[in-house]
Amino acid sequence: MSTHIPDVLLARLLTAQRVTAFTGAGISAESGVPTFRGNEGLWKKFKPEELANLSAFMKNPDLVWEWYQARRTIIGTVQPNDGHRALVEMEVLFPSCTVITQNVDNLHRRAGSRNIVELHGNIERNYCLSCGATYDGTDLPHTAGVPRCTRSGCTGLIRPDVVWFGEMLPEDEWEGAVRASATADVFFSIGTSAVVYPAASLPLTAKQQGAFLVEINTERTPLTPSADLFLQGVSGEVLPAIVHAVRERRTP
Ligand code: APR
Repeated sequence: MSTHIPDVLLARLLTAQRVTAFTGAGISAESGVPTFRGNEGLWKKFKPEELANLSAFMKNPDLVWEWYQARRTIIGTVQPNDGHRALVEMEVLFPSCTVITQNVDNLHRRAGSRNIVELHGNIERNYCLSCGATYDGTDLPHTAGVPRCTRSGCTGLIRPDVVWFGEMLPEDEWEGAVRASATADVFFSIGTSAVVYPAASLPLTAKQQGAFLVEINTERTPLTPSADLFLQGVSGEVLPAIVHAVRERRTP
């Protein structure tokens, strides 16, 4: 395993009670899920204002629905990678390990993580805009274009259960994320450009509350100057190397 893990991090991890991992699209890049702002990123090809907000959905629900169906198809063909799996192992390695994700791709859950906070929702869930009835992928009415609700006389539009630009984050998830950030001994910010708020405030909250802040990214971001440690590399290599190094140090 080539990635070197500095002693300063290992020393922190060997005594850590609570570890929090904050993830963005970069952790799923090695699985084949496009990021948003990378060279081949979604926002280079599509306009978020035309696809990822409520007024765009009301104006052209079929277009927005088809776009999410296309993303679901990609996500349905990929698998979690070693980065996701290393975070599952961290749930065993540390007394408390929480994954706070901005990703809607469900790959942390599919990898086996149990302690997950989904800040921006989950693309495999849907709900009716009118009555709130929920639909997972299996019970969606099969129609061309955007499906309509079929519960008790409602015919409302069904939308993906993801947070669109201009929308509030789900309250419970936000409170859980702030708690897991403010109480972390070690906080990893992984594969995120750290530019979308309020999520991007969480690493700073963790640092202010005394956490050792580690950024893992292939590139520097606006968060890098605030990090105690910047590990430049792909998360699918750096995270397994961290797990390996902690295990090695623990083995007498
Ligand atoms: N390993 C580590 N980092 C990576 C990798 C990788 N294999 N591949 C890309 N990255 C980094 C990029 O350098 C970039 O900093 O991941 C980051 C991805 O950034 P974005 O595409 O901006 O994605 P993210 O930060 O998750 O976006 C936040 O914005 O569009 C909204 O709601 C959407 O949740 C999303 C939010």
